[in-house]
Amino acid sequence: MRVGIVGTGFVGAAAAYAMTLRGSAAELVLTDVNADKARAEARDIQDATPFSHPLRVSAGDYASLDGCRVVVLTAGVNQKPGETRLQLLERNARIFEEVVPQVVQAAPEAVLLVATNPVDVLTTLVERIARLPEGRVIGSGTALDTARMRALIAEKVGVDPGHVHGYVLGEHGDSEVLAWRSVDIAGLEVARFCEMRGLSWGEVERAEIDTRVRRAAYEIIAGKGATYYGIGTALARITESIVRDQRAVLTVSSSLRPGGTRGEVAYSLPRLVGGAGILATLETPLDPREQQALAASEAVIAEAAAGLK
Ligand code: 2OP
Repeated sequence: MRVGIVGTGFVGAAAAYAMTLRGSAAELVLTDVNADKARAEARDIQDATPFSHPLRVSAGDYASLDGCRVVVLTAGVNQKPGETRLQLLERNARIFEEVVPQVVQAAPEAVLLVATNPVDVLTTLVERIARLPEGRVIGSGTALDTARMRALIAEKVGVDPGHVHGYVLGEHGDSEVLAWRSVDIAGLEVARFCEMRGLSWGEVERAEIDTRVRRAAYEIIAGKGATYYGIGTALARITESIVRDQRAVLTVSSSLRPGGTRGEVAYSLPRLVGGAGILATLETPLDPREQQALAASEAVIAEAAAGLK
């Protein structure tokens, strides 16, 4: 199982490292406009394989993506402190217009996994440029925000995050929607779970978690200039679900909607992710406020995407 990563900046390198530690593939191919950087990252990560999983890690050009099951697209610039994800669009769209046709030519059977921000608008762009069969273009979307939400709820209520379910929908950005109606622990609403455990849970706790999830990237970027371990590991997780046909339910970005219809732009909903990419898009229970917020989030992405050629 061969996986390609285009772009070996912080995110691409962290994704490759996470895939190596988790054994997400049999072989990783790293490419970057800076070939020396790609080679150096490949060698450094290869050094981790005797301590983790026996992956083959190499660097190469677009042609070496041949035969990849998944190609992760991380090329582009990232946010400076205070900058929003949407402010990156112009620069990263130009890069993608150049990169995507070459990737599709080299690896026509691959699922394309878009990570570069603004990820929903760029996923929309890749869907338009690549013209691949349905479900073969996936944006990492709110996979990371969903993980952040689950981790914060888990910390608050003292439960393994793996046993806290719930989803962040819409834009991977300021307008994202924490779908509180979707959250459960052992099939119980969080409020009921907390009542049983003698914990307080209400508007205040939800608002605090909402702000922390929405602001997470800004706070990390203010402190260290970039975010990469969280997204790198999310990319490894999504990749595994594809290469092993695991059919995990992940909040990833696509213009596919429940019932197999297609919208104008890509955004995140819970989706069944397996060997062919997105196998199905699932409906989520939303209250009227959440539904409105999701429509508003879609409008934010649509407005940004309207500027695309
Ligand atoms: C993140 O949320 C910046 O999109 C990146 O970590």
